[in-house]
Formats: sequence, C-alpha cells, structure tokens
Amino acid sequence: MLPCRPHRFTTAGETCHGLGNFATFWPQSDDTVISKDDARLPLQRELFDLPDDVAFLNCAYMSPQLRAVTRAGIEAVKQKARPWGVSGPEWLGGVEPLREAAARLMGADSDGIALIPAASYGIAIAAANVPLRKGQNVVVLHEQFPSNVYAWRELAKARGAGVRIARKGPNDAWTEAVLDSIDEDTGIVAVPPCHWTDGAVVDLVRIGERVRAAGASLVVDASQALGVWPIDVAVIKPDFLISAGYKWLLGPYSLGYLYANPKWCESGRPLEASWMTRAGAENFAALVDYVDDYRPGARRFDMGEFSQFVLAPMALAGLTQILEWKVQRLQSTLRRLTDLVAEEARALGYAVLESDRRVGHMLGLRFPDGMPEALPRRLEQSRVFVSVRGDAIRVSPHVYNNEDDVARFLSVLRDALV
Ligand SMILES: Cc1ncc(COP(=O)(O)O)c(C=O)c1O
Repeated sequence: MLPCRPHRFTTAGETCHGLGNFATFWPQSDDTVISKDDARLPLQRELFDLPDDVAFLNCAYMSPQLRAVTRAGIEAVKQKARPWGVSGPEWLGGVEPLREAAARLMGADSDGIALIPAASYGIAIAAANVPLRKGQNVVVLHEQFPSNVYAWRELAKARGAGVRIARKGPNDAWTEAVLDSIDEDTGIVAVPPCHWTDGAVVDLVRIGERVRAAGASLVVDASQALGVWPIDVAVIKPDFLISAGYKWLLGPYSLGYLYANPKWCESGRPLEASWMTRAGAENFAALVDYVDDYRPGARRFDMGEFSQFVLAPMALAGLTQILEWKVQRLQSTLRRLTDLVAEEARALGYAVLESDRRVGHMLGLRFPDGMPEALPRRLEQSRVFVSVRGDAIRVSPHVYNNEDDVARFLSVLRDALV
C-alpha cells in the first residue's frame, strides 16, 4: 500500500487508504508539520487527565486538558506572582513562540498571526475590514455556527446588502452549494472548512479560487478543523482565517488565533486602539510619544492585553504537542475511529455521511425516525459524552479515545433502540 500523500504527489491509481477524497484537501506546503507521515498514533490517553469511567467523544465541544497544558498553567500562575522579572520586550515578545506555533499549523508566517479572545472577535475584525457594498451578498452555510453569522447579518443590514444562505440536500456537497451561491454580486464568502454539526467538508481551495475570480473576499472560521485537518493559507489564500483555541488546538478557553492576509497587514483596521499594538510599544519609557504606526504584520489586530501571561504558555503547550503528533497522523488516527462509528451506526439505521464527504475527526448521526427517547439519559448514565442536538448526534474523538470508547458509545446506541 502506498503512503497517503498530498494531492500534488498523488498520481492516478494510487490509493489513499481509508481516506477517500481526503487527499484532495491536503495542502501543498512542505512544512514539516503538514507531513506526509500518516502513520496512526497509539492511544495517548495518559497525557490527559481523564477518569477511566469517562468515554469523552466530544472534542468539538471543548477538549479535555493535556497534563502538559495544566502544568504550564500552574507554572505561569506562579510566575505571574513575580512581575519584577518581566521587561518591556518580554511583555510584548513573550507570545512570539505561540504566534510561531499557530503559524506553522496553517502554513503561515508568524507575522500573519494575531491573538484574539474568541472566534467572534476575529470575525468582527474581518467584518470591519473586508468591503461590502449596497446590493451585494455575503455567502454563508445553512445552519453555520453563529459566531460566523451574526456579524455578517449586522454588516449586511448596515450596508444595504444581503446574507445568502447556501443550502444542500442530505447527500450533496457543501462545496457545490457554495460555488452555486457565488455570483457577480457576491462581496464576501464566510465559511468553515467543515460543517460544525457533522463534519461535512467544504473545499476551501476550490471556493477560494472562485471567490478571487469574483473579486470577493474569503473569511474562514476554522475552529472545528485547525489542529486536526490540513489548513494551508498559502493555498486557500483567505483574507482572514480564524480559530478558537479551546477545541482541536487543545488550549485554554479565551485565546484564539487570526490569520490576516498580507494585504490587510499594511492598512487593516483593528477593533481596538490598544497601546500594545503600536510601533515601539516595548519601549515603556516612550509610551506617551504617541505614534500612528502599528507593530509589524497582523500584530496590529492583536487584542488588548494580548500577552496573556497565564493562557499563552498553556496554549503553546497544546500547540507544541499537536506539532509533535503531526496533523496528518492525527487525522488518520481519528478517521479510523469515526469510520468504525459510521459503519455500525449505518447498520443500526442511522444516516451518516460517507467518509469521503466528511472530515475524519467528526461525524454526525441523524435519526430518520427521530431521536430514540432513551438515548440522552442512557448516554449520561453510561458516562459517554457526545453532543446531542435536535435530531442529530455529533461524535468527535481525539487521541485519548480508542476502540473501547467507540464500543461503549455503540453499545448505548444499540440499547437505546430496544
Ligand atoms: C464553528 C465554530 N466556530 C466558533 C466556535 C466558538 O466561537 P466563539 O469563540 O466565538 O465562542 C464554535 C464553538 O462551538 C464553533 O463550533
């Protein structure tokens, strides 16, 4: 069997084992992080603080904490008690390794990364910058996560523009639905790499090409993909790409990332007028020599108090572990688990997307005859954690899960039917 490789290396006839069209979405960067090594990872449960009786299959909700992240946080809290050790350059520069790690995960340069408190903050930065004229439309997915919807509704209202919702049938692909929604009046396309409810893939490379041909802007909320699914901004070429940090990036709550295309790094407007984003801010002796210039790159978009003396070392510990595991190996490992769930769930009569239509780290089960009444209670009693939303269940494992957790979930699923 040939190893699974990025699509530019894959010739006709090669098989990407178990990944279906997955290779199509693999980025073209040769960064060591986006490696061609798709070996599966052994169980990593001991690196997390998970009780034996818990089967946590809900990373898309909030990741459990790596012990290394907890340790980094405790150490950082202790350090924070001793502020006399923090110089001006350290105050601002301490987060540079974090910027660098986030950049590596998405094929960017650390100059392209800003630190943000939430995905909604990043989307607000995008909405404050990308152009939208009267009569134009903003394309989003049907039932897209609200952090990437409300800002566009408000902007469209303020500008006399509209929000256009791309819709699809249960077996259709989002990519075509989005491409079909883009026309000469499209100003902005604001979409994720996969749908947050069931992991259905959105091909950002193809959409990016169409967006550029239409002269529109592309804004991506990668909160349910970055860290576990290939994202390469050099290929996607978004105007802005945003991710919350507390899910697949295994970081603390309230620290996320924004990538800004270089075209926005010269003239883009930040949300705040923080002293910390201004040129020369590390020279504390000259802070009242007010300046109009910003620090280089996307740093102009950094949130106020971006130093995050406690959260930043925790976030870095999470990203460091992900970089060590490698995104492709995570994806291969998790796809095997979700494929196991899909196979059995289908046999039980649940509707599940085909593997080549969804990311490997998440899947949604739909109940054609409605949710079995006993299911939420049975899941709770069995200490099996997934997301239950309306008539669907989202299962999202990580490397602290193995076949045993999957078997526990499937057994509850089976029992709830009788
Ligand atoms: C797709 C997506 N984006 C963003 C978020 C989090 O948004 P915020 O950081 O604005 O709270 C979530 C949370 O579930 C999500 O699923």
